[in-house]
Amino acid sequence: MTHEKQDDSAVRPDPGALDEQRAGDEIADLSARIAQANEDYHVKDAPVLSDADYDALKQRLLVLERAFPQLARPDSPSHRVGAAPAEGFGKVVHAQRMMSLENGFAETDVTDFVARVRSFLGLRDGDLAFTAEPKIDGLSLSLRYEDGFLVEAATRGDGTVGENVTANARTIADIPHRLSGAPAILEVRGEVYMSHADFQRLNATEGGRVFANPRNAAAGSLRQIDPDVTASRPLRFFAYGWGELSQALAETQMGAVERLAAFGFQTNPLTRLCHDVGQMLAVWAEIEQQRATLGYDIDGVVYKVNDLSYQTRLGYRSTTPRWALAHKFPAETAWTRLDRIDIQVGRTGALSPIARLEPVTVGGVVVSNATLHNEDYIAGRDSSGASIREGRDIREGDWVKIYRAGDVIPKIADVDLSRRSADSAPYSFPETCPQCGSDAIREPGDSVRRCTGGLICPAQAIEKLKHFVSRAAFDIEGLGAKQIEMFFADPILPIREPADIFTLAERDARNIARLKNREGFGARSVEKLFAAIEDKRRIPLERLIFALGIRHVGEVAAGILARHFGTWDALLAAVDAAAHEPAFAADDKDRRAALAGSPHWTELTTINGIGAVLVQSLVTTLTQPAERASIDRLIAQVQVIPATVRQIQQTPISGKTLVFTGTLERMTRAEAKARAEAMGAKVAGSVSAKTDLLVAGPGAGSKAAKAAGLGVTVIDEDEWLRIAGGS
Ligand code: IVH
Repeated sequence: MTHEKQDDSAVRPDPGALDEQRAGDEIADLSARIAQANEDYHVKDAPVLSDADYDALKQRLLVLERAFPQLARPDSPSHRVGAAPAEGFGKVVHAQRMMSLENGFAETDVTDFVARVRSFLGLRDGDLAFTAEPKIDGLSLSLRYEDGFLVEAATRGDGTVGENVTANARTIADIPHRLSGAPAILEVRGEVYMSHADFQRLNATEGGRVFANPRNAAAGSLRQIDPDVTASRPLRFFAYGWGELSQALAETQMGAVERLAAFGFQTNPLTRLCHDVGQMLAVWAEIEQQRATLGYDIDGVVYKVNDLSYQTRLGYRSTTPRWALAHKFPAETAWTRLDRIDIQVGRTGALSPIARLEPVTVGGVVVSNATLHNEDYIAGRDSSGASIREGRDIREGDWVKIYRAGDVIPKIADVDLSRRSADSAPYSFPETCPQCGSDAIREPGDSVRRCTGGLICPAQAIEKLKHFVSRAAFDIEGLGAKQIEMFFADPILPIREPADIFTLAERDARNIARLKNREGFGARSVEKLFAAIEDKRRIPLERLIFALGIRHVGEVAAGILARHFGTWDALLAAVDAAAHEPAFAADDKDRRAALAGSPHWTELTTINGIGAVLVQSLVTTLTQPAERASIDRLIAQVQVIPATVRQIQQTPISGKTLVFTGTLERMTRAEAKARAEAMGAKVAGSVSAKTDLLVAGPGAGSKAAKAAGLGVTVIDEDEWLRIAGGS
């Protein structure tokens, strides 16, 4: 099979080559990028990353979290499927979480998947069948039927809480309102999508708003506040799974899907049963061949273990079932000319190169920009100096091969050297900020060049403000990126820093030229804007922390810090104290020795999910005098709502450390470990004073003896099964 490896991990260093600091740094960066991508995709319906890039980020995060489990955050985005639900719809807590799928790209990923399933189940040989079906590129929907009546429809949201779109779902012709012969409780899960033909018709008739692709059109149409609008949109639905059930549908995946079809749902006609990897790959190739003529978007093939009792035993990782794999199709590609390389300056000063392209259609979407990541990437090497694209650099005027797997911002896969003009020169990456002229420097180990201008750099200030008002931060209605740009440049009523937002109304009242008299405003819209700002004067602590746009402090870290410290003052006190301690000033090498005299630094860095890199950035930013003064001006304007400590679901083994030894007869070691971890326990390989419980099967040797010596509780497999609820 020919398949280019296009994920980022191809150019990132092997985790074994990273120290904890760099891994922490990268985990923080990946988490922030994934959280942003989730928000763009699930909440804004305006994805910026391609599916392939998104998958690559998640894949890389998983790899790092496996290599550095101590750095994995408790609410890592690798444990979350999507973003929190958008406002405007009621919220629905899914009776059973809506999961995502593990992705595979190469044939070996499929072979490995089958081998893993066999090993988990302890099935050396013997029949193990899988279903194979198209992976529909739409959005997932859960339909709840009670006594045969459709009572609720919900989007996935973050996997735990989705949006209530019942009224809209009822308008979709493929979704029955009544089922006969169904279990009293039945949640049907499947994909809402739009056909190519309907998508083209919609875009031709929809006047102003044109959707980038059928997936966005389907998502935008389902999430209309007015169900009449949804009704006018040609949405379809394929059923492929289920959530809560009062009674099993069948004993196999295939049988269950046939029951769904019998209830009146559309199920995918290309679904096949396979008995080995060869058959799975053959179905994959057959479906890929039909991809262009199916009439709707698919982005791969999903394999699922057919036997439902095996599915139950295999269970779930944090966001994906162990019994399924999405085998993705390779990205689509096209050649075009790279006209120019532009540099954008982000909120943390990062200089990001963007390729401006001669517009070209790739997989049905016109593409005119591609990301170039950083100067190493342009030069054809990764951050460790290793060659990528066989060392071919990228120059202005080059012919480049563009790829995109899903939608949006694409990447450059290759350069055609035979078409390079004789007078072309390597691109020279700027060493000063193109926006403010300050030095742009690269710190050791960082692949990104950053402007050192801080608040004096207008690009950083604007990006910080845009971040400040963004949805996961202050989320001020009527004050988006466009308005920020306008107010930033405004000579009469400027917004140059966050505090200025909250003095806007008061400053306007003092001006002779009032905002309401300006073109594009008007009394009502100004009133609404001021009211929206007033509304956010009371702000939850985690939003405030996230809104400050501190490097490495994403939504997840902000939440962790808020829940740890409870109040802004407590956080600041810890940060100020840590800034005077030796560990803050120490470099990596000497930090260990400096820890003894650094209680506040130690407190910060030992918070689960918060690493030294993040703390360094937090302390540096909050104690930098100009930044601090600007933040103090903001704090004087707002009222911070303290955070409450999150409740964690308790099980008899939450927080305990377990060790398994001897032979377990009723489940494999992997299964037992997964079950224990799902119940909040840690599983260790050897017995120590920290062990709380030893599960000893027959043949337990020295570990059982050691446990007895240490006074550790020892239980047998039956007792374990009672705790794990599997007997
Ligand atoms: S099964 C517990 N089957 O892909 C696993 N998902 O990338 C449930 N999707 O969230 C998913 N076609 O929205 C399944 N035939 C199919 C699918 C499918 C599309 C979507 C679904 C899922 C996402 C994961």
